[in-house]
Amino acid sequence: MDNKMIELNNVTRRFGEKQVLKGITLHVNKGEIFGLLGPSGAGKTTIINILTGQLSCGGSARIFGISCEKIGREVYRRTGTVLDNCGLYDRLSCADNLRLFAQIHQTPLFRVGEVLHQVGLDGCEGKKVKTLSKGMKQRLGLARAILHNPELIFMDEPTSGLDPATASEIHALMNELRHKGTTIFLTTHNMDEAYRMCGRIALLSEGKMVAYGEPAAICRQHCRTAALNIVTADGEKLLLSNSPDHADVIAGLMRSGQLRSIHSCEPDLGTVFLSLTGKELDQ
Ligand SMILES: Nc1ncnc2c1ncn2[C@@H]1O[C@H](COP(=O)(O)OP(=O)(O)O)[C@@H](O)[C@H]1O
Ligand SMILES: [Mg+2]
Repeated sequence: MDNKMIELNNVTRRFGEKQVLKGITLHVNKGEIFGLLGPSGAGKTTIINILTGQLSCGGSARIFGISCEKIGREVYRRTGTVLDNCGLYDRLSCADNLRLFAQIHQTPLFRVGEVLHQVGLDGCEGKKVKTLSKGMKQRLGLARAILHNPELIFMDEPTSGLDPATASEIHALMNELRHKGTTIFLTTHNMDEAYRMCGRIALLSEGKMVAYGEPAAICRQHCRTAALNIVTADGEKLLLSNSPDHADVIAGLMRSGQLRSIHSCEPDLGTVFLSLTGKELDQ
């Protein structure tokens, strides 16, 4: 069987006069964290809505090899979603919310305690959702998404607006899920998050894909200066072009024990995005 959990082929979508997706082709492999990266309004949530059967599209969109137009119970059983408006009932307690979803998914009720523990919400069983902080709500949303052990999880900007400590707890949970073989489809406008968390990413700008692949490889591809940043043992900084002319200088520093650090100068994802689109990514 092939390894692709998600396949988009020339996917288009318009809302009225506005062409929001202009031909997106990408795939997501089993077991990877895939990042869809782009500024607000780029079309990220629209893609999730297409992939979860909530919106129709032009071209072809498939999930587990099944056309997204034909999504039914079987696909919902195999997927989990962490969306911005995560569909939790404010007046119900954490445990009651999860019990409700356990019943919908026909999942045994002992999973409720397990997932609350997994997301670090032990002791919050009886707390009403409306009393939770944003970070706790986000963790409860994640607990809801993993309750039925889905193979594929959609996470739409899961750390947006969270403090760095809570964001890194969410990241740790994502890594835990990935180690268990779960595939994660993440959207974000945070380039550091995408660089650190994702095996592969697609950079989206105004409905078009402007880069696709491993984050580090994308940065290397768009490296215009073949420069090396060197710091010597005396703290002197040198910027040398990466050419044979400088081989002797570098070898000399190495031989004399004077080379403290040497780095190539790839741009970060934000800089790549800026050079491809003329726009800032982090907004
Ligand atoms: N239901 C809708 N009706 C009309 N326009 C929409 C609708 N959903 C999204 N859009 C428009 O599509 C564009 C992309 O939106 P969205 O996919 O939510 O972007 P992102 O998630 O990347 O911020 C935006 O210009 C948005 O206003
Ligand atoms: Mg969105």
